[in-house]
Amino acid sequence: MEGPDGSGKTTQIELLETYLENKGYDIVIAREPGGTVIGEAVREIILNPEYQEMSHMTELLLYAAARAQLVNQVIRPALAEGKAVICDRFVESSAVYQGIGRGLGVDTVYEVNNYALGDVKPQLTIFMDLDAEDGIRRKKDQAELDRMELEDMSFHKRVVEGYRHLAQLYPERIVPIDATLPIDTIHSMLVKEVERRFFS
Ligand code: TMP
Repeated sequence: MEGPDGSGKTTQIELLETYLENKGYDIVIAREPGGTVIGEAVREIILNPEYQEMSHMTELLLYAAARAQLVNQVIRPALAEGKAVICDRFVESSAVYQGIGRGLGVDTVYEVNNYALGDVKPQLTIFMDLDAEDGIRRKKDQAELDRMELEDMSFHKRVVEGYRHLAQLYPERIVPIDATLPIDTIHSMLVKEVERRFFS
């Protein structure tokens, strides 16, 4: 599940989890960066607003390090046991935030992340499409902003444009959903997409 900050990913993941569990599936939920003890420790470093001096490449590698741990400790074992994994952000976040937002280049991001992912690839990526201003406004209402959320609006706009661009480039893999729609409507659209992909 992908999208800018404040686009409602977590709410939709919870609804989808319940839906799939009711269908009899074993579901594992993971969030990035984090999802493991080591990944959560890396998350603390990455998002700490005090670390303003962090280089873009360090940032990319830290996200990839947290991802490598998640893939090895949680995702690969869960898939091997026949479970389904829903991830709150994954490699497309690095593609747009570090590749496009930070300007490191999408190819560099995928190259670095190949080491973290190995053969683990998402079968479906949902992109919760929301204008950057709306996402950050929603976040500001909720909590203190972290190091990424504190970036200027032009960064967040590049991120959203990056998602839209990737969704256009890979329509079979990345499905955009209008995140301004009501929660129930989005859930129904999501279920329809999951049904079409996996159960029809
Ligand atoms: P979260 O607030 O959705 O938990 O994500 C933390 C922040 O990290 C969010 O601003 C997006 C950013 N992020 C990246 O820049 N690159 C990544 O690879 C990931 C997973 C998240």
